[in-house]
Amino acid sequence: MKARSLLPRLLIVVVPALAACASTGGSAPDATTPTSGGTAPPAAARWDHTAALALPSLAEKMKDRFPVGAAVEPHHINDMGDIVAHHFNHLTAENSMKMGPLCPSSTCNFDSADRIAAFAREHQMQMTGHTFVWHQMYPAWLFKDGAGKASKEVVSQRLHDHIFALTERYADVIDNWDVVNEAISDNPEKTYRGDGDDSVWYATFGGPEYVKTAFAHAAAAAEKFDPDVKLYYNDYNVVKADKRQKIIEMVRALREQGVRIDGVGLQAHWNLRWPSVDEIRAAIDELAAEKLLVKISELDVNLYWEDDHATKKWQPELELTPELERELTERYTQIFQVLIEKSDVIDHVTFWGVSDDRTWLNGWPIPRKNYPLLFDREHQPKPALEAILNL
Ligand code: GLA
Repeated sequence: MKARSLLPRLLIVVVPALAACASTGGSAPDATTPTSGGTAPPAAARWDHTAALALPSLAEKMKDRFPVGAAVEPHHINDMGDIVAHHFNHLTAENSMKMGPLCPSSTCNFDSADRIAAFAREHQMQMTGHTFVWHQMYPAWLFKDGAGKASKEVVSQRLHDHIFALTERYADVIDNWDVVNEAISDNPEKTYRGDGDDSVWYATFGGPEYVKTAFAHAAAAAEKFDPDVKLYYNDYNVVKADKRQKIIEMVRALREQGVRIDGVGLQAHWNLRWPSVDEIRAAIDELAAEKLLVKISELDVNLYWEDDHATKKWQPELELTPELERELTERYTQIFQVLIEKSDVIDHVTFWGVSDDRTWLNGWPIPRKNYPLLFDREHQPKPALEAILNL
């Protein structure tokens, strides 16, 4: 099975002009495009949430195991805030806290991020801060100095200021930060992403030192503003033994140098048939054995299991037949059985979205209808949710 990682992902630089839109949550390439704004009819006129709200709360059901989160943008609050508040008790900003959308210029626009944080506070939820360092969705200005490239010292200082500002601003509502996202390469011949052209961070620092720099800044900011906040490394394909080994070696090396790193997030962009429950179990066990916190940070179950990223052969669009729906339900059941079994080492479990009408998987790797979440396009609860509630 080819996982998503085998595709060299688009290097997305959010140039200032684009980022001005992205900062409202709309035009980031992997954003789920809002279909309603200020002029849209109220949610009640468009969707019937009765069934979703009549079910027991998913978060309440899991409360003795782990918090259950969702990645959201302000449009979720507008259109399904009632569902989010009922079924989830942890939030991640899907795009609004990434540096590109948040800071299209050196002056950041906190409107969207603050809106999500305010919703979290209103509903007594904590959040994941996502993310300080990523090779995608960063603003172009960050790596520029006049007409030339900024030095690593300049970028490090800018990153320091950004990390300190955000840690302070959201200290009351963020309980963990994704300090670095996706620094490790999928290429078996190298450890870090970026020997070629695929990490501007690596290129600017002349190597992986930026990872250490980011964690050191985050630890200093935490010490000053939020001593209990947890500092995570977050990545996809952590279930693959070779990639996980590279992550573990990176963590050990950082810790040997006295750098604080508390946990590793498994993004968990999985599919209907991959990974196996044994692979999931092994990943959680190995990370926990390193005395790392473990979180499931971006869970979704892609309906398409036959994509081949190496040859760019994509499975043709499917309808969610009753048979596939049963398979999806069974898959979510198996996944949650493992997560519940391992709940003593799992910090939280976060879905990457709420309903199938707004998921990045409708657009990646090609535009194609997808069905990866617990609520359908009409915001109706899927059998998978009911199955999890019955565990
Ligand atoms: C990565 C990032 C997320 C999101 C997804 C989907 O997993 O960490 O923020 O952008 O990709 O594109």
